Amino acid sequence: MPPLSTLPQASRRNFLKNALATGVVLSVAPASLAKGSPEPEPEAEPRPEGLVDRFAVIGDTHYPRKTFHGTRHVGVDHRERSLRPEPSEIEDRMDLLNDAIAREKRGKGLDFLVHIGDIVHSSGTKEDHRWFQNEILAAHGIPSYVCYGNHDRLEEEDWQDVYGQGRNHAFSRNGFGYIILNSSDTEGARQLCIGQDFLQEHLKAFRDLKGVFLITHIPRFQTGFRGDERLGPSYGSDSPQCDEIMAMLEESPNLICCVSGHFHEHNGIIHNRGIPTVFTNHFGHYGVNQYGLRIFEVYDDGAVFARLEGFEGKRAGKGWQYHYRHSHLYRLG
Ligand SMILES: [Fe+2]
Repeated sequence: MPPLSTLPQASRRNFLKNALATGVVLSVAPASLAKGSPEPEPEAEPRPEGLVDRFAVIGDTHYPRKTFHGTRHVGVDHRERSLRPEPSEIEDRMDLLNDAIAREKRGKGLDFLVHIGDIVHSSGTKEDHRWFQNEILAAHGIPSYVCYGNHDRLEEEDWQDVYGQGRNHAFSRNGFGYIILNSSDTEGARQLCIGQDFLQEHLKAFRDLKGVFLITHIPRFQTGFRGDERLGPSYGSDSPQCDEIMAMLEESPNLICCVSGHFHEHNGIIHNRGIPTVFTNHFGHYGVNQYGLRIFEVYDDGAVFARLEGFEGKRAGKGWQYHYRHSHLYRLG
C-alpha cells in the first residue's frame, strides 16, 4: 500500500474511495514530531474535487484544571494512560492544540471548528471560557461551534454571552445539517436524556439535506465506563440509554453519524442500534495517552470521511514530548 502522501491528488481520491468503500482502515506512516524540535511543515494541498467542508472536532480540553490531584491512572487494560497534567503542562497542551489546528488549516485546509464539550474544567470560570474562545477557537480566522459538556457548568445566558450560540444549536451549510444537542446541566449531570423536541424539530427541518450530524458531548446510548481505575467496570456506563432519541435517529435515513467525546478513552467509532458514533480524541485530563483532532471531510455527493489526527504524549523530564501517532480514515456516508 503506497503512502497516501505520495499519491497525486486525483488518484489519491480514487484510491481512498475504493479502499474505504470496502471498510479498509488506512494508516499513514508516523512522522517524527517532538514538541520543541522542528516540525515538518505541511504543504498546502489543492482542495479535492467535490469537497464542500472539512472541519475539525476538538476533544475534551478541561482548561485550565487548576486542581491537580496527583492521582496516577494506570488503566485497566494494556493501554498506557496519561497522568493528569500538572497545571503548567496545560499551557503546553493548549499550544499543542493551537499548533494542530494551524497545521490542518495550512495543509489540507479547515472550514470550521467544533468543540465537543468539557471545554473548561468544573473549577473554571466564565473568564476561562472567554480565554478559550479568544485564544483558541477564534484565533484561527474560521467559524467555530461549541457543544456543552458536563464540566462546562455555565448557565445558558453566560454560555450564549461567551460563545454566541445556545447549548442547543443547529445550522446547515453546503447541503448538510449539524445539530448540537446539550446532554448535561450546570450540576454536571451525566445521565440526562434531554432535548428531544429540539432534536426532532431539526431532524425534520433537515430531512431533505444530503446528510445530518448529531453532535453531543455525552453519547446518547450506554457504553463502557470512564476507564478510571477508581471506578472500574463495576461503575457501569457513564452515559444514559436514551431510547427515544436513538429511535428518532434510527428513523432518520440521512443521519451520517453522531459525534461524541466525554470518555477520554474512546477515539474510535462505536455502533449502537446501527448508528455510528464517532469519538474524539481529548486534550487534557486523564484518559488514553493520545491527543489530537477528529477531522471530517464532507463531499457534495454525500460521502463523508472521518480522520483521526493524533499525537501520543510521553513524559520527558519535567515536561512532555509529543509524537505524531497515526491518521485513520473511515468512510461514513
Ligand atoms: Fe471530559
